[in-house]
Amino acid sequence: MDKVRITSEFDRTADFILYKGDCLDLLPRIPDGFVKLVVTSPPYNLGKSYETRLELDEYLAQQRMAIEECVRVLDDRGSICWQVGNYVDSGEIVPLDIVLYPTFASLGLHLRNRIVWHFGHGLHASKRFSGRYEVILWFTKSNEYTFNLDAVRVPQKYPKKKYFKGPKKGQFSGNPLGKNPSDVWEIPNVKANHVEKTIHPCQFPVELIERLVLSMTDEGDWVLDPFIGVGTTAIAALMHNRKAIGADIVPEYVEVAKERIRLAEEGKLRIRPMTRPVYDPDAPEASVPPQVVQLGTVPPQLTFLEQHQQYIIQE
Ligand SMILES: C[S@@+](CC[C@H](N)C(=O)[O-])C[C@H]1O[C@@H](n2cnc3c(N)ncnc32)[C@H](O)[C@@H]1O
Repeated sequence: MDKVRITSEFDRTADFILYKGDCLDLLPRIPDGFVKLVVTSPPYNLGKSYETRLELDEYLAQQRMAIEECVRVLDDRGSICWQVGNYVDSGEIVPLDIVLYPTFASLGLHLRNRIVWHFGHGLHASKRFSGRYEVILWFTKSNEYTFNLDAVRVPQKYPKKKYFKGPKKGQFSGNPLGKNPSDVWEIPNVKANHVEKTIHPCQFPVELIERLVLSMTDEGDWVLDPFIGVGTTAIAALMHNRKAIGADIVPEYVEVAKERIRLAEEGKLRIRPMTRPVYDPDAPEASVPPQVVQLGTVPPQLTFLEQHQQYIIQE
């Protein structure tokens, strides 16, 4: 990629498209089957600064309009990852994945995982247990879908473990590329002291989206985020030589997204690396410093796999 191109027009030769406005205006302009992955965190109907609080039925109807379009623009081998938490009404919680599932199922999508994203920080509740997870519903459009597990394997807990009997005795029992990351992901959320923090009240951590992008798309594929906020999905996609398209109704957020992409182009954007373990006060030396994003200069997927190889070799 030689230069940052910002456009709200539909241009399939662009590296990314950011649209300032309602996703329901952008989505109809995208051709059928154009994107390999839709990953998004929609408004949760909590009455945040960027949303008008609706009755639940009205909210679900609005979500359905966006979801129907996302299904239309999805490649037959593609995936939709809808990341949601709870809608809270008079102190009572409504898990949005539960109420949204019927919409996806009625559109013929296939649920592959209900990924639990666990994080350590958030509001302290006094009348219920404090919420420390949200959910990613991962659907595919068909039974033949892109899934690159090797690209997202994580280090084995006991990498030196060997078979102690049988024909494989003495051989390593685990996959040398690492293990399946499972469907429970512990990844810090973006709070005030996170290296990626911007003006957005609830942005994705880049590493959460990197795992989805690497496993569910190939290089050159388009990734769509209809509620893109400050562009985290675009950063994760572009870092790994994918293309990104998204919309946000708050113009300031799109400006921040543009700025983050520009910084990444200049090799100045700092992110929390996927390989950094969750902070352990008993082992502070295990910390990995922030990673500086360099768009288009390295094949990051290879780099990540090489790190795993290194991990194994060092063991
Ligand atoms: C949960 S936030 C997503 C944040 C994003 N994942 C990030 O990392 O920055 C939801 C976003 O949806 C945007 N939004 C709300 N209604 C919208 C609509 N109709 N079309 C596009 N964006 C919308 C809000 O402005 C907000 O930034």
